[in-house]
Parts: sequence; C-alpha cells; structure tokens
Amino acid sequence: MDKKFRYYILLFVAIATITFGLSFIFNLIGRTFEFSTFWRFFMMVVASLLSALLITYIVFITTPILKEYLNTMRSLLRLDTFSHPILLKLQQNAPSSFHHSIMVANLGHRAAKAIGADALLVRIGGYYHDIGKTKDPMAFIENQTATEQEENIKKPIQLAKKIKSHVDEGISLAREYHLPQEVIDMIIQSHGTSQVSFIYKHLQQKGEKISKQDLAYKGPKPQTKEAGILMLADNVESRIRSIKELTEPQIIQIVDHIIQEKNTDRQLELSGITRGEMQKIKNAFIEGVKIIHHQRISYPK
Ligand SMILES: [Fe+2]
Ligand SMILES: [Fe+2]
Repeated sequence: MDKKFRYYILLFVAIATITFGLSFIFNLIGRTFEFSTFWRFFMMVVASLLSALLITYIVFITTPILKEYLNTMRSLLRLDTFSHPILLKLQQNAPSSFHHSIMVANLGHRAAKAIGADALLVRIGGYYHDIGKTKDPMAFIENQTATEQEENIKKPIQLAKKIKSHVDEGISLAREYHLPQEVIDMIIQSHGTSQVSFIYKHLQQKGEKISKQDLAYKGPKPQTKEAGILMLADNVESRIRSIKELTEPQIIQIVDHIIQEKNTDRQLELSGITRGEMQKIKNAFIEGVKIIHHQRISYPK
C-alpha cells in the first residue's frame, strides 16, 4: 500500500476513534447525571474543543512525516527520467549497463507492485544502481566482448576489485549529483555481502582457491523489501541476459535458482520479505521476463 494512502487511513482511524471515544464518554456522563440545558450545551462545547484539540495535535505531529515522504517522492519523481545527466553518462559510457538498468527497473517495479512495496523507489533504484559503472565500464561483463572477458578473467583478484568498486563509485557519484539518501541506500545494498559470482564460479571450475573476502561486496545486506527486490531483479536480469535462447521453463528455473541462492547465502534475511511475498515476487519476475523478452522465448524442444 502506498505510504501516503496508509497515512490518510491512519489519520482517518485516529480521528474516528477520538470522535467516537469523546462522544461516548460525554454521552455516558449525560445519561448518568441529570444536567440542565445550559450544562448539556456547555459539555457539548467542551467535547468539541477537546476533539478539535486532539485532532490538531495528531495532524501537527504527523505532518512532518508526511512532508518528508512527499519531499522524497518529489525528488524521486525528478529522477524518473532518462535525461538525468548521470543516466546520460551511463548511456554513453556503458550502453549495455544502461540497458541492464532499465530492465532491472522494470522487473523490480513489477515485483514491488505485486507485494505493495514502494514501486517508485525500486524503479529509481533500478535506473541508478549501477551508475558507478560509468567510471570503468569495460570491467563489466555486459560491456565486454568474449575476447576481452577471457583477458580480464586472467587476473581475477584485480578484476574483482574493479568490479566491487562500482558500488563506492556509485555512492560518490550519487552524492555529487545530490541523489536522495533512499537511492544511495539502494546502491549500497544492491549487492549486499554477496560474492562477485562469475569470478567465484570461474575459480571454482578451475579448482583455484581465493579468500571469500577478496570476492565479497562490503554490504550491508538489503535492509528493506525494496532493496531486497532490487538485488533479486539485478541478478535475474544479468542471468537472463547471458542466455541466448530462452524457454519458459528456463525462465522459471533461473528465477527459482536466484531466489534460492540468495536465501541460502542469507542475503535477504534483513529485508523483511515474507515467504508469501517471495512467491508473489517470483511470479512477477517470471511474468516480467516473459513480457520483456517475448521475442526471444522459444518453445521447449
Ligand atoms: Fe551493480
Ligand atoms: Fe546491476
């Protein structure tokens, strides 16, 4: 449910409770004692004043919360455009990362809507989560040719360092461009404390050992449902992108696998996403991938 709507419902319930409570109390007093017309009128005035006072107090203490929410929403809406200078830079320097970010935003938005989370924040988080890749775009697999990938993986530790630095680069760029803290948090938490997976798998296949710390992002793990969804959407999109011919069972298997992988790695333990919500997120991702990639989906043989 939208935060603003939730606030209005809470305000409505609070006002209704105060009005009901006061009229109940004064009604009870009126029925218990015999009052003259003057005193009855006086009590009605006191009840109205008291309820007005309490309602004003509630509005007074909750307005800053609503104001802050509206300010955040306004600044998020301002970022909801591809002509933001940092997105133009991403588009120019790392076109594949830019395309990946749009897909992540679409998938995340769909999943957030499915569980009633803040879909706008997830979409903006999706657009901006990889802005740090503008610094060294060629370190990232989506911007490399097969030969470049082979060359880069020869120095796994340096490559991991470069890849991991896109989060810090993203944070400093976000600060430079005055992005709101909510978006910066999405950038920070988008990889949690997970490993740079393709290097990890590459080394595992080769039987080489590397310390987990060399491959792990600094974190923290996603602290909100929105950040959790962003992490999953980011991984689903990257994995889907690497497959040339997609079938529906493959999409289901990939989404399933990523959710399972992140759960086993306990990356989502602080996000507050429940089991039921995870099922809805999964369905939203599957539908989203099918819609985005419908030309690429072939029937299973
Ligand atoms: Fe990233
Ligand atoms: Fe990403």
